[in-house]
Amino acid sequence: MSVGVIVLAAGKGTRMKSDLAKVLHTAAGRTLLEWTFSALADIDVREVCVVVGHQADAVTAACDPAIRTTLQEPQHGTGHAATVGLGGLDGHEGPILIVPGDMPLIRATSLASLVEHHVSEDAAATILSVELDDPTGYGRIIRAGDTVSAIVEERDATDEQRRVTEVNTSVYVFDGPLLAGALDQITPDNDQGEYYLTDVIGVLRADGHVVQAVAVDAEEGIGVNSQAQLAEVGAVLRTRINTALLDDGVWMLDPSRVYVDADVHVEPGARLMPDVYLEGATSIGAMAEVGPGVRLIDTTVGAGATIQHAVAIASTIGDDASVGPFAYLRPGATLLKGSKVGTYVEVKGSEIGEGSKVPHLSYIGDATIGSGSNIGAGTITVNYDGFAKHRTVIGDNVRIGSDTMLVAPVTVGDNAFTGAGSVVTDDVPEGALAVERATQKNVEGYAEKRRRRAEGDDS
Ligand code: UD1
Ligand code: CA
Repeated sequence: MSVGVIVLAAGKGTRMKSDLAKVLHTAAGRTLLEWTFSALADIDVREVCVVVGHQADAVTAACDPAIRTTLQEPQHGTGHAATVGLGGLDGHEGPILIVPGDMPLIRATSLASLVEHHVSEDAAATILSVELDDPTGYGRIIRAGDTVSAIVEERDATDEQRRVTEVNTSVYVFDGPLLAGALDQITPDNDQGEYYLTDVIGVLRADGHVVQAVAVDAEEGIGVNSQAQLAEVGAVLRTRINTALLDDGVWMLDPSRVYVDADVHVEPGARLMPDVYLEGATSIGAMAEVGPGVRLIDTTVGAGATIQHAVAIASTIGDDASVGPFAYLRPGATLLKGSKVGTYVEVKGSEIGEGSKVPHLSYIGDATIGSGSNIGAGTITVNYDGFAKHRTVIGDNVRIGSDTMLVAPVTVGDNAFTGAGSVVTDDVPEGALAVERATQKNVEGYAEKRRRRAEGDDS
């Protein structure tokens, strides 16, 4: 059965104590709103309308352009938000699913079975509930036999009602026209002076309609109202992601210390050591070993590559390449098959050719290095003259001596050499040796002369 959906996302989220709108906070690589949309993507949805209010522009911008948004201004409570949301949908016929934008753990399967239950019971409203050991702060589900008679908010509840442990998650399915009619009858006659969506339940019951509640696993009902709850849902999402990866055959020394975003791909057989952060559109090939201590953002890692103690952003690490320990790959670093970027090396906007090595203490920026070349320790591509960036091109099978400064734009031909400590400003022809440094002079007996000078003995 296809449903119209209203996503409630206009609230302020005061308890987050953050300048960012609550639904735009992220957990495991997606905003709370994106988690809501990804659950909705797996059920049969007719149309979606997101109710925005607090930071409406930012929240609207975060929504897919195909999703409708409607402004609730000012925000007079969840009942008012539902009224505004109904106005944003094309029609009210059939079931309307209402979900808050701050419940990222809700599963599509739970939403689908809620809708199914609602339709098969021919109910006016069906509430998704959870059983909590500590129901503090939530609306309580008041049952009368096998129907629900009301939802009572904590602040409006009697002592006896407060002892009820079945609570409202704020996810509901309503019959569209009955919801519209009941919303017209609710009043802001409560402790907060707001229109409560929960009051619709009492109205429907008073009119003799069927209201039901379906319980799901308590974990799915966690709403994010505070930073502590955001951290809690982040931990649950990470556990879900890591469990799926382990099931797929990914190896982890300690899953509690591996942080993988929702949209990362890891091939079976990959090995993840502790303190690994895989973020954004990152993918890891089979038998690659990542970690310990690695953060990869939007980075592709080939099969059999090894990376330890490194940060990489928008980079490509080829099959069997090796990175670190202690390396920094900035956007546009491309390491071809079997290449190496070693210890204390930074690479940006550069291609390191097949089997080429930059083992120690180098900066490689805006360079193209061919295959089979070796870049000596301490080599720097001097790419910036204070006005513009220039490229360095190094051919195949080149030997760059330690501590070479390659002052770009400059080209070193295939099979060429540079002498250690050279400042190379002119192109080096294929097969040539470029040396740029003063001839060494030895001052014999210098140490002895210096000692005598210090002791005032100038004989
Ligand atoms: C609400 C429910 C409560 C339930 C709890 C579950 C009501 C009156 N109470 O309480 O029974 O146990 O959720 O978390 O509904 N929103 C708007 N516009 C508004 C006010 C809120 O869009 O004017 C949105 C918020 O952005 C949020 C959702 O509605 O996504 C819930 O609002 P919130 O203020 O968090 O409600 P609770 O007090 O938690
Ligand atoms: Ca809430």
